[in-house]
Amino acid sequence: MSEGQIEQTGLRSRMVGGLRAGNEGEALALAGWVHRRRDLGGLLFVDLRDRSGLIQVSFGPDWTEAASMEHAHDIGHEDVIRVEGVVAARPEGAHKDDMATGGVELRVTRLEILSDARTPEIPVYRASEDELPAEELRLQHRVLDLRRRELQQKLVLRHKLVLAARNYMDRNGFIEVETPILTKATPEGARDYLVPSRVHKGEFYALPQSPQIYKQLLMVAGFDRYFQIARCFRDEDLRADRQPEFTQIDVEASFVEVDDILRWIEGLILALAEISDVDAPIPFPRLTWQESMERYGSDRPDLRYQLEIEDWTESTADLDFRVIRSQVDAGGRVRGFLLKGGGGLSRRQIDGVENEAKAAGAPGLLWGKRSDEGASGPLGKFMSEEQADRIGLGIGDLVLVSAGPDSLTSPTLSAVRDALVAVLELQPVREHAWVWVTDFPVFDEEDGMLAASHHPFVMPHTDDIDDLEADPASVRGTAYDLVYNGTEFGSGSLRIHEPELQRRILRVLGLSEDEIEKKFGFLLNALSAGAPPHGGIALGMDRIVQRFTDSPSLRDTVAFPKTTAARALFEGAPTPPGESALDELGLQLKAQDS
Ligand code: AMO
Repeated sequence: MSEGQIEQTGLRSRMVGGLRAGNEGEALALAGWVHRRRDLGGLLFVDLRDRSGLIQVSFGPDWTEAASMEHAHDIGHEDVIRVEGVVAARPEGAHKDDMATGGVELRVTRLEILSDARTPEIPVYRASEDELPAEELRLQHRVLDLRRRELQQKLVLRHKLVLAARNYMDRNGFIEVETPILTKATPEGARDYLVPSRVHKGEFYALPQSPQIYKQLLMVAGFDRYFQIARCFRDEDLRADRQPEFTQIDVEASFVEVDDILRWIEGLILALAEISDVDAPIPFPRLTWQESMERYGSDRPDLRYQLEIEDWTESTADLDFRVIRSQVDAGGRVRGFLLKGGGGLSRRQIDGVENEAKAAGAPGLLWGKRSDEGASGPLGKFMSEEQADRIGLGIGDLVLVSAGPDSLTSPTLSAVRDALVAVLELQPVREHAWVWVTDFPVFDEEDGMLAASHHPFVMPHTDDIDDLEADPASVRGTAYDLVYNGTEFGSGSLRIHEPELQRRILRVLGLSEDEIEKKFGFLLNALSAGAPPHGGIALGMDRIVQRFTDSPSLRDTVAFPKTTAARALFEGAPTPPGESALDELGLQLKAQDS
């Protein structure tokens, strides 16, 4: 059923958006919001809005009852009205081509004001698209902002994507199972939101960072293929692409290999792309994590652009430049970008790119240009013609270099790559760039401490298991991420299904036997009850909607989002608890520094 044809309800005959010339002569009751009004004294025109669109309704003494005509002059923006009348063709010259219903109007016989609206704090009708009020103000008045067609369309698309996802998973034999919200900590790398228990004073539930452990338990229970449109909660530093609560399409299956999961998810993405304006040519290319870091400095490379990192450690081995020599002597590498014709970049533009490198942690960025007079710039001035030739730096070119350990040069060069795309206004080689990044390391090293790079349940590569204790940093996992235009859409892996191997990984992560038992005893216990080999993935629903609708923020894809400070501005949350609530929970607040 299309929106314009939603059947009659008690107060109205239909929605307005589908009205066309073919409806001429129909007597209808319509209802909705006053989007815009033009009072010409004798005649009055209102654009009436509902979820399906807008229609002009006109009031005039020749066709509107006298009492309604009088009343009509009182209606204001955003009032809710009901009008009865007859659909008529708009007079010659009054057609509005930018409005789907622009050829017709409803000539109102009778008006009823269903609800008066106060003057809206933010305008719903805007003469031009550029006049959007500041986001904070819009979030404070979210209900009004949600009346905007763009936002409504995004939520409608979201609904359609979720529906398509459910249908696709169902067609492929997956069943949706709801897992608990009041639960035990799930390690996904963020802090938990805790919920105090009134019954068990001093004890807390954690809200799930993901349904990870439950979906594994469901595999042990024999559900074979599970999915869930799952709400997740993470107390982490927020950015434009993160919300403290968000939705995943969470998937798990038994007796699978990596290819099975990737194939299913490619089919799912195709089903979603088909209802959006997005190309998804499957199968998607694959890059190992190692390759991705080598060529793009990032595990979520934006492959719309064809700019790749080069390694000049060997070709600069005879360069007499202390900064480079000291880094290479310490085991680092010399990597960077060669921009053919990039010599035209101004000093200011290069400084701008260097600032991005610094923001990514680099002490600076070395660069060189070459002209008829030879090479110049902080790096170029150390280069002979022969050395410049060796790295391919020709006349009119620019080279940008970062020297040091990969852990520093990779993020630096990734940031430099993003900055260059903007500064050079690089043309994309494709508009929709999908890639699987595979074989992530099992562990990350943060400040000398090992952490799980995804979560501790990732099955390591069989070939690498022997190195778990001796060289954990080298252990590759059966983990994969799906990346679209530089955004991580989803993440998954095969899982460990043997309790002893799971224990080993937890020990490598530094957990004591006691902690292992307390935190994961229930999982290990389940795994020892006969666990099938299994694996899965979770895709970020909000991010998919954000990218598919080209929205600047994740907030545009959620009806009632939080700010980057994790506040709900409309309803006003979080709030301090009342004394009696604290008493009941057996809690006391510590004094806060103001
Ligand atoms: P991960 O933590 O990578 O994996 O999350 C999967 C996907 O969820 C989305 N996502 C978010 N979206 C919005 N706001 C956030 N704060 C946020 N955090 C994550 C991203 C991400 O790719 N249990 C594993 C999956 C698995 O192994 O099956 C997990 O949750 O799009």
